[in-house]
Parts: sequence; structure tokens; C-alpha cells
Amino acid sequence: MLKTVHESAFSLGVSADTIRRWEKKGLIKASRSPQNHRLFDLAELQRVKEKYSGETVGRGFYVLQAPKNGLSIIELFSGAGGMALGFENAGFETRLLVEWEKDPVATLRQNRPDWDVIHSDVAKVDFKPYHGAVDVVAGGFPCQAFSYAGNGRGFEDTRGTLFFEFARCINEVRPKIALGENVRGLLQHDSGRTLQTMISVFRSLGYRVEFRLLRAQFFDVPQKRERLIIIGIREDIDASHLFPKERDYTLSLREALGNCPESVGARYPERKRQILELIPSGGYWKDLPIDLQKEYMGGSFHLAGGKTGMARRLDWDEPSLTLTCSPAQKQTERCHPSETRPLSVREYARLQTFPDDWAFAGSVASQYKQIGNAVPVNLGYHVGRALHMMLTGEGERNDFESSVTLETQPQQMTLW
Ligand SMILES: C[S@@+](CC[C@H](N)C(=O)[O-])C[C@H]1O[C@@H](n2cnc3c(N)ncnc32)[C@H](O)[C@@H]1O
Repeated sequence: MLKTVHESAFSLGVSADTIRRWEKKGLIKASRSPQNHRLFDLAELQRVKEKYSGETVGRGFYVLQAPKNGLSIIELFSGAGGMALGFENAGFETRLLVEWEKDPVATLRQNRPDWDVIHSDVAKVDFKPYHGAVDVVAGGFPCQAFSYAGNGRGFEDTRGTLFFEFARCINEVRPKIALGENVRGLLQHDSGRTLQTMISVFRSLGYRVEFRLLRAQFFDVPQKRERLIIIGIREDIDASHLFPKERDYTLSLREALGNCPESVGARYPERKRQILELIPSGGYWKDLPIDLQKEYMGGSFHLAGGKTGMARRLDWDEPSLTLTCSPAQKQTERCHPSETRPLSVREYARLQTFPDDWAFAGSVASQYKQIGNAVPVNLGYHVGRALHMMLTGEGERNDFESSVTLETQPQQMTLW
């Protein structure tokens, strides 16, 4: 049942400000009435209230899964398989993965011995044998500037970059859908010119493109993490762009980490541990006594800016902050909510929605890096389901959106 802020506050016995704060923290999502009033789902608000008071653990930890759908995918720059597993869970057959680092390749091979994983630089792989044989080519190509862009030679202008190799794969395979995945920063990279060049390359290869920023915490992922999703549809394919629609609930750390198996993990040096011990759940360096603030922050103490990532302890009742390649970096600390230690490897994996039996190869630092680099598995699942819906028309149409209001998604653009 949808209610306004004040109606919701009355029904729940909390203040309107409390509901606004939950929305601001990203714990609950409002929809809009025709009069542009915020509307909240009362059942979801009730769940947030119960989670906050510790009355329930809500939905708990889960990894989404759908039946096989007969579609296939090649993924370049596949890392430890976050996106690949999300697509497998959405029903896709994994035809080929390409990755050049030893540890993520070992991770992929030990978890999925039947997947074809090429351990190589993407630039050295010939994709012509897959021509016309795969539905989707995906890749989270590392973002690089194009010094020669704009010479009017289409994708030849980007030669020498990893995006060029991604575009070359698309041109050699000619999949029905090309799927690019990247960080939010690509939107602003070189004042937006990098993304524009990429889009014109997709166009020159005969693909219609739309892109959108997806927020993982609204896609069954207990973590605030944004990913730019670029979808190109081959011009002869009769399909419209669809993106998964944000859910109106989020998952808290408490839900994600319940019954988390023991695992290896990093430890703090003793002095750092003593200082972090004083930080409350959800707090950061400003919660320390002033002398310890100065000791911990060193030269940064007098610099402007909130630096809310420093000496940061995560909050049980919220989705995690974005995971990085290491859980104990000074600027982006991710201390366990109630124990004074960094999140363990398995806790990290849970926040990226890897299943508990997905093992990571390599040193502890390498395992954190592979997990921190991944697309959250459940986000990959939702994107996979959207592509499945686009190509087959099967699925629940209400779970997807073809267009969004500029108010909620200023980053979305349609290119013709
Ligand atoms: C952001 S990670 C990808 C994460 C992956 N999509 C996932 O969901 O787990 C990018 C990966 O690209 C790999 N990579 C970078 N340059 C490469 C190249 N030239 N050839 C092959 N792999 C490359 C890196 O080793 C890294 O694992």
C-alpha cells in the first residue's frame, strides 16, 4: 500500500523526518504520485523499522537464480566472475571469458571447470570463430582517454585502447547485444568526450545505444555501488532497450552477514585497532576524542572536507558503503560493524552477492582485489534478465523500464 510521508509516519508511529532520513540514507525508495508527491510502500517501511529496531533480520542473504534461457554470452575483462556468474544465474550459457591476470583466471577455472576461460591479453584473441554464434558480448573495459578520437575514422580512432579491443570483438562476433559496464566516472571522463566517442563507435558498427547508471543497493545487493551500463542493440534486431527497474527495498549489513562462514581476512596493526575500537557503528574519525583525531588523521586533520571514509565503521542497519580493492585503506576504511577488524574475505564476497561456495584463488590481498573489482552478482543477474526480456519478450514487464524521468536519472541519455 502506497502512502505519503505523513500518512506513513502516522501509520508507523515514527516522525516524518525519520522517514525522510531513511530515504536520504538510501534505505527505502519513494515513487511519485501524479501530483509529484513522494509515496512509500508501507510494508517496506515496516520492514525497515523492524530491521532498525533489531526485531528481524529481514530477507537474509540470497543469490538470485533463474532457469536456463537458451541465450549465450562472451565476456571480456571477466575478473573473478561477478558479472559472468550473474549472467549464468539469469539463465545464460557462458561461451567464453577472457582475462589476463593469473589469480582471477584460477578463480574462474576452479569454480567452473566447464567454462572456456582464455588466459590472455584481450588484444591477442581472435574472436572471428564466434561470428554470429553468440547473443551477447559484454565487457567492463578499463577507461582510457582517446588521444586520436574525432578523426572521423570510427572505431579505428580508438586503436591502442582496451575499448578498441572490446569494439573489435563486437565487430568480429556481431552479437545481437553489446553490453558495456563501467564506473560512474566514465560519464565525466574528459568532460564526457570519452563516452561520446565510445557511443559513436558503437553507432559506426551498427548498434543503437542507450546507457544508464544503476545503483546496486536497489537490486538485491547489500552495498551502495554504482555501475554505468551501456546497451547496444544491433540495428537489424527488433528489440527496444530495457533496464532493470530499481526495487523499493534495500538490504542491510545485518541481513547480508547473518551466518556468514568463517574465512581468512586482514588484521589491523595494534595501534590502529585501539583507535578504531572507539568508533561506534556507522561512525568515523569525528567520533574520536580530539587528541586521537589528530593522531589518526595526521596532516589531513587541518585540511577541509568531511573525509567520512576515514576510520569508518560500517552500520549494521544500512547497506555497506562501496567496497574497494582493499578493506583497510586509510581513505576508505570498511571496519566490521561490531568487531574491530576489517571485513573478512567471505564477508566481502557476501556484500558483492557471491555465493558462499565461490572460492577465490591467490593471496588474501588478491582475493579482496578480485572481489572489490567485481560487478555484484545479483546486479549482473538483473541486467541479464533485462537483456533476456529484450531478446525474447519473456518475463515480468513491470520489472523493467524503457525510459526514466530526468529527475531520478539525469545521467540517462538516448542517442537517437
Ligand atoms: C573491473 S575488473 C572486471 C570485473 C568483472 N567484470 C567481474 O564482474 O568480476 C577488470 C578486469 O580486466 C582485466 N584486464 C585488464 N586489462 C586486460 C587485458 N588487456 N586483457 C585481459 N584482461 C584484462 C583485469 O585483470 C581485471 O580483472
